[in-house]
Amino acid sequence: MLEKIKAKLMPLLIVSVLAGGVAVIAMRGESKNVTVVDVRVPQLSPVALEGRALFKANCASCHGENAGGSDKAPPLVHKIYNPGHHADEAFIRAARMGVRSHHWNFGDMPKIGTPKRDVLKIVRYIRELQRANGIFYQPHSM
Ligand code: HEC
Repeated sequence: MLEKIKAKLMPLLIVSVLAGGVAVIAMRGESKNVTVVDVRVPQLSPVALEGRALFKANCASCHGENAGGSDKAPPLVHKIYNPGHHADEAFIRAARMGVRSHHWNFGDMPKIGTPKRDVLKIVRYIRELQRANGIFYQPHSM
């Protein structure tokens, strides 16, 4: 009798262990450090188009395609990077000096060394993307 019950319960046990394992893997996937935004790309101004090329060459390896983020760095098309929170100067400083991790847990951004005139074009590109995705100036206190 006991043997029969055991035989019936065994497959159930195996199934629940497997299901538990799958759930654990799924949850780990969710908590991975990835915040990727699906960015709408508007028609870009000539300067923003130059900025896009510069962004691809200097920043996209971490900040992702269209600044939508990757597993290495946050999306810059994100409300915390609106012009009221991170003015153009923050971009120039980030490229020149790097960034100590503070908003996320991707780690520090290294010094990139992109010159100011190029970063300003990149900023134009980011701002046009931000606006097309509903991200506008917000005073810092908000
Ligand atoms: C090697 C990866 C990497 C590259 C390349 C990179 N970044 Fe970053 N960047 C990061 C990470 C990681 C952060 C997030 C730091 C944090 O936790 O706040 C960041 C943050 C920033 C910030 C926010 C700064 C702040 O004051 O909070 C700006 C602006 C920025 N990056 C711009 C750029 C620009 C522009 C480029 C290209 C010239 C670039 N990044 C290239 C990794 C990178």
